[in-house]
Order: sequence, then C-alpha cells, then structure tokens
Amino acid sequence: MDTKVLQNTITHLLSGTKGILAMDESTASCNKRFEAVGIEPSLEMRRSYRELIVTAPQLENYISGAILYDETFNQQTKEGIPFIEILKSKGILPGIKVDLGTVKLAGFPGEMVTEGIDGLREKLAIYFQSGARFAKWRGVITINGNLPSSASIYANCHLLARYASLCQEAGLVPIVEPEVLMTGDHNILISEKATRRTLNILFEELYKLRVNLNTIILKPNMVIPGLSSPDQVNDVIIADSTILCLLESVPSSVPGIAFLSGGQSPLQATSRLHMMHKRFKHSMPWKLTFSYSRALQQPALDMWKGNSENVKSSQQELVKRAAMNSHANRATYSP
Ligand code: 13P
Repeated sequence: MDTKVLQNTITHLLSGTKGILAMDESTASCNKRFEAVGIEPSLEMRRSYRELIVTAPQLENYISGAILYDETFNQQTKEGIPFIEILKSKGILPGIKVDLGTVKLAGFPGEMVTEGIDGLREKLAIYFQSGARFAKWRGVITINGNLPSSASIYANCHLLARYASLCQEAGLVPIVEPEVLMTGDHNILISEKATRRTLNILFEELYKLRVNLNTIILKPNMVIPGLSSPDQVNDVIIADSTILCLLESVPSSVPGIAFLSGGQSPLQATSRLHMMHKRFKHSMPWKLTFSYSRALQQPALDMWKGNSENVKSSQQELVKRAAMNSHANRATYSP
C-alpha cells in the first residue's frame, strides 16, 4: 500500500488542535451506558443517539476523526443518509473499531486478551473500500497485586503489532491502544511502572513485526492513581508522570498520541490534558491530543435521556466538551 494514503490520514487526524471522538462502544457497552441513565437499550435508540452525535453542528471544528463500531458504520440518519457520508462531508474521517473485545487469558487468572485477529485482513479491505481510513484495537492490561504478568503484556502487545501491520497493509492508520486500566486502589507509581513496562514491550513488538512507526497513532492511558486509591494526586503530578513516562517509552518517530479517558470525569480528562500542554509544550516530539469516549460523551448522554426534545442541548454538551479539549491542546483551557 502506498504510504501516501497513510500519511494523508495522519496529517488530517492530527491537524491543528483537534482530537478524535471515540463513539465505538460495542452494543453491550452502549446498552450498559444507556441503562445507567434510564434509556431503553434498543437498536433504534442506539441509532438515534449516534445520529445526534454525527449531526452535531460545529463538531468538525474540534474533531478530526470519529471511531465507529460496525453497527454504526453501516447506519443512516432518519432521512437515509449514511452516517459515514455525513462525517466525510464535515471533514471528519471515519474510523472503525476492529477488535472483538476481550476474553479471559487462559492460565492467567484476572487477566484479559483481545480477540479478532482471525480474518482481519479481509475485514480491513472491506472497511477501506467502504470509506474507513483508520482503525482501532484495544488491548487491556490489569493492575492488581502482582499483576500485570509479563505474559499478558506480551500477548496483548503482540496482537496489537499484528493488527497494526495488517492495517498499514490495507491503507488504514492503526490506532494502537494498550490500556492499562485505572480500576483499583494502586498508587501513581504502580500505574507509572505498569504503563512504562507495557509501552516498552509494545514498541519491541511493533519493531519486530516491521510496523512503520511514522504512520501509527498511540492511544494510551494517562498515568493516574487507581480510581479507588486513597493516594490521589494533583494534575501537575499526573501531567509530569504521564509525559515523563511517554518521553522515555515512545519513539519520536510516532507522529501522535491521543489519550483515552478511562473513567476519569470529563473535567479531569480536560484539565490534565491542558496541564500536559502547559508544562511540556516545547519538549514533546509528538502531537498530543485526545481520543475520549466517556469524557466527551457522558454530559451529552445525561442531557439527552433518550428524549428527542433534548437533542439540541445534548449536541451542545458534546461540542462543548470537544471545544474544551481543543482548548486544552492549546494550553488555553479554563474550567
Ligand atoms: P474512554 O475514553 O471512555 O476510556 O474510551 C476510549 C476508548 O476508545 C476505549 O477503547
């Protein structure tokens, strides 16, 4: 595949201070989020909600790409316009989540591995033909006592590397997401160590499988204490721990890093991104941005409640979060 296609996609996705919207929740995850706020978990409600997102006015000012789930990739507005056509007409590149979620890693209680590598070459070719220009695969690393094991990090990173090389062959930019989960009561040093180990092994595997680092986007967690840790820290410490860990682990040939939000509140995810830009504006070799799902969508979902009268105000909430994170990317955010 001509690397020009991949490079054009990278340039577009990382343009200005825009970020990438993750709206690729699986049917089960989307239903769970709906049920949590009292929305009926049906096919039509999922379609309506995704229509609300892709048609949000001004979204394109702050969002360069949207990651979709297979169901959404093939859906249309009430008037019959495919969602991916709406996105493309606004200059938002359509991307696709291609992993099939996680299952238990045999022999390693409490750890997970991601499925979906079988038949992936054929799937990617179809998505490319249908207009997708980038893809996403998420590997999950768990912190708990002696975990993560080296075996689980290697298994997940090897799959991420195989996925990434297949994507590049197909002309799709791979978003490579090794998520060290924030669940647990561990302190920030433990999070930093697990993130660093994971990234070191990830780049070893990417190198082994000849993945071109110039045309990937890394989607990592921020380095943060466990969500139930008694040792919470301020945004300066989170910004410093995260960027120092990334500077030591991520080669400068990687063009962009786009964070997941991972259970942080929308305000935390924005203010921490802002702090990283404020403190490290001139010392980062890669572009740093956001690729949040929950931290962009949650206020919009809370506002919508499945009620068509709330569509406009819900869209405003979504675009507001996108705008605030775009400000964070310029270090000009204030809550
Ligand atoms: P969150 O921002 O909600 O963590 O989701 C990002 C994502 O794409 C998970 O795979």
